[in-house]
Amino acid sequence: MAKRIVVTGVAGFVASNLARHLLDRGYLVIGIDNLSAGTLENVDPRVEFHRADICDPSIRTLLTGADAVFHLAAKSSLTDCLEKPLEAARINVLGTLNLLEASRQLKIGKFIYADTSAEYEGITEFPTREDKIKPIGVYAASKHGGAAFCDSYRELYGMNITIMRYFNVYGPAQDWRRVIPPVMSSFIIRMLRGERPVIYGSGEKRRDFIYVDDVNDLHMAVLENPKSNGRVFNAGTGTNFSVNEVYRMIEELLGTGLKPIYKPDLPGEAQITLADTTAARELGWSPKVEIRDGLLRTIQYIQERVLKAA
Ligand SMILES: NC(=O)c1ccc[n+]([C@@H]2O[C@H](COP(=O)([O-])OP(=O)(O)OC[C@H]3O[C@@H](n4cnc5c(N)ncnc54)[C@H](O)[C@@H]3O)[C@@H](O)[C@H]2O)c1
Repeated sequence: MAKRIVVTGVAGFVASNLARHLLDRGYLVIGIDNLSAGTLENVDPRVEFHRADICDPSIRTLLTGADAVFHLAAKSSLTDCLEKPLEAARINVLGTLNLLEASRQLKIGKFIYADTSAEYEGITEFPTREDKIKPIGVYAASKHGGAAFCDSYRELYGMNITIMRYFNVYGPAQDWRRVIPPVMSSFIIRMLRGERPVIYGSGEKRRDFIYVDDVNDLHMAVLENPKSNGRVFNAGTGTNFSVNEVYRMIEELLGTGLKPIYKPDLPGEAQITLADTTAARELGWSPKVEIRDGLLRTIQYIQERVLKAA
C-alpha cells in the first residue's frame, strides 16, 4: 500500500514542489495549509488538501494514519517576522509543537522539520557544519524554537525526527507576492517587466543558492534512508554567489540593459552563507542543478505562469 505522507505548508513554494515530487514517486500526500501566504494554484490536484491552521489542536485528525510528516508550514518572510514577532513565535514555535504533540500521540514513524540556514546567522566559519548555531533575527529565533522542540521530543520520547536546514532555495512557485520577494524571483520579475532590479545593501552578501529539485532529492534521501534518522542535514550546494553576481547572471540570460537600484541594507541578515554538505552527501545525495540552468528554469516558469497571469 502507498505510504501516506503529511506535508504542511503545501500551498507554499518548497512544500508544493515537494508534494508533486512525492506524488510522482507513488506516495499519497495529505496537504495542510491555511493559505495565509500560499495559494491553491500551487497545490497539485492529486493532493488531499485540507485548509487548516497548524496551531489548531484538532489538526491531529488529519495526521491519523500517516507514515511520515514533512513540516514546512511557517511564517517564512523575514520582514513579516520582524514586524510581528509574537505571531512568528506562535506559528513557528507553537505550531511546530502542536504537530509534534499530535505526531507523538499518533506514533508517527518519521517527522521531518524544515529548519533554516538562518540558524547560522552569527557563525563565521565557512563552509558551515551542522553542529554549531547562533540564530539572531526573529525569523531565525522562531525557527530555532521549533527545532528546539524537535530535539526535545526526540530525546524525551524517542521520536524519529530529522531536521533539514535549507539554505536559499529557489525555483518555480517561489513566493513573489511578498513585499520584498526572494532575490532571484524579484530580479527576474522586475527585469522581465522592464523595471530596474532592487538590491538591498552593496550586493556583496553571498548566498548558497540551491535549486528546489535538488532539495527534493535530499527530501527523498531523508525520507527513505534510515541513516538520516535523528540527524540534522544542511540542504545547500557548498557553493555561493553574491547578489551582484546573481544580477549579472540574470542580465546575461535576459539582456535587458537594466542596472540595479541600490537601497539601504535590511537588518539582521548574515553576510555569507555556505553549507558544508558532507552529512547530506553521506546519504548518497549531491546537488545536480547548475545555477544558470536553475535560473533558466525559473525564468521560464515566471514567463509562463506569473507574467502571463498578471
Ligand atoms: N525558501 C527558502 O529558501 C527557505 C530557506 C530556509 C528555510 N525555509 C523553510 O522552509 C519552509 C517552506 O518555506 P517556503 O519558502 O516554501 O515558504 P512559503 O511561505 O512559500 O510557504 C509556507 C506555507 O506555510 C503556510 N502557513 C503559514 N502559516 C500557517 C499556519 N499557521 N497553518 C498552516 N499553514 C501555514 C503558508 O500559507 C505557506 O503556504 C518554511 O518552514 C521555511 O522556514 C525556506
